Amino acid sequence: MRKIFRLRRELIEVGERRDFSKRVREEGNDEISDLAKSANWMLSSLERSSEELKRYAAHLEELVEEQTVKLREKERLAAIGETATTVGHDLRNPLQSIINIAYLMEEEVSSLPPDKREVLAKWMKRLRDNVAYMDKIVSDLQDMTRPLRVERREVRLERLFMDVLDDLKVPGNVRVNLKINPGAEKAATDLLILKRILHNLVNNALQAMPDGGRITIETSVSGGHLEIRVEDTGVGMDEETLRRIFTPLFTTKAKGTGLGLAVCKRLIEELGGDISVKSSKGMGTTFTLSLPIYDAGEQGKQAQ
Ligand SMILES: Nc1ncnc2c1ncn2[C@@H]1O[C@H](COP(=O)(O)OP(=O)(O)OP(=O)(O)O)[C@@H](O)[C@H]1O
Ligand SMILES: [Mg+2]
Repeated sequence: MRKIFRLRRELIEVGERRDFSKRVREEGNDEISDLAKSANWMLSSLERSSEELKRYAAHLEELVEEQTVKLREKERLAAIGETATTVGHDLRNPLQSIINIAYLMEEEVSSLPPDKREVLAKWMKRLRDNVAYMDKIVSDLQDMTRPLRVERREVRLERLFMDVLDDLKVPGNVRVNLKINPGAEKAATDLLILKRILHNLVNNALQAMPDGGRITIETSVSGGHLEIRVEDTGVGMDEETLRRIFTPLFTTKAKGTGLGLAVCKRLIEELGGDISVKSSKGMGTTFTLSLPIYDAGEQGKQAQ
């Protein structure tokens, strides 16, 4: 009789402490010890279930945290979006009128005596550069948020790369390699949107190589996608920077806005593509754009 009381007491203890790793004593070879064995069997199964529950709860907590971060990011973007639309709209007109006035002033300057002309021309250039910079911020803010109309058509990639490089005025100490691999000469996409993306990537590459280096732009077909890689031999990035580069307003540059890559990500997703990056500090960086493949048959059908 004492054995059954002990078993009862041990089981009550387990229940009260909710410690399913405990086992009751199984000594002897009678009905009570059989009962104790069954109780232990149940306890080990309870222990396993409770471990599983703990793991599941931890996983749920992680998921909730992840979703909360995403939600906060969405709210932040929505707030940026609202501000961007208003600020962008309000700034566009005065900016345009500064550009027009600067143009008129430049005409006037050309009729001044050479010594005055030189000084004023320098100031005019600074004015123009700063207005262009403000214009870029307004465009980036708008690209981040406004609804886009994607107009797909045949885009010859080499020509597009040359245009982007021309616009950005690559300095003499930067070598440029273009590698267009067979089957990856064209894209069926929106020319202007793809140009904005490449503009941002090549600009970043140039800014990452203040003492010169090499930019390689290469296209290929891989895994049923068109890939465009923009590679530089610049300063590269550490893990922490890499983790944050697509976050709006993240920048490590004194005169950066931190919108370039956030815009790239949004735009490439609008084109049905994706962007990824590999980088190592001091060695350089490669951004890879992946786009739906160019299908000559499909393009022909659309053109008809
Ligand atoms: N090719 C690159 N090499 C090294 N670091 C880079 C490169 N591209 C981007 N980065 C890092 O990512 C950050 C974010 O880039 P992003 O283009 O979004 O903003 P930004 O260049 O700082 O400013 P802007 O809005 O004028 O483009 C940069 O500040 C830089 O630290
Ligand atoms: Mg940039």
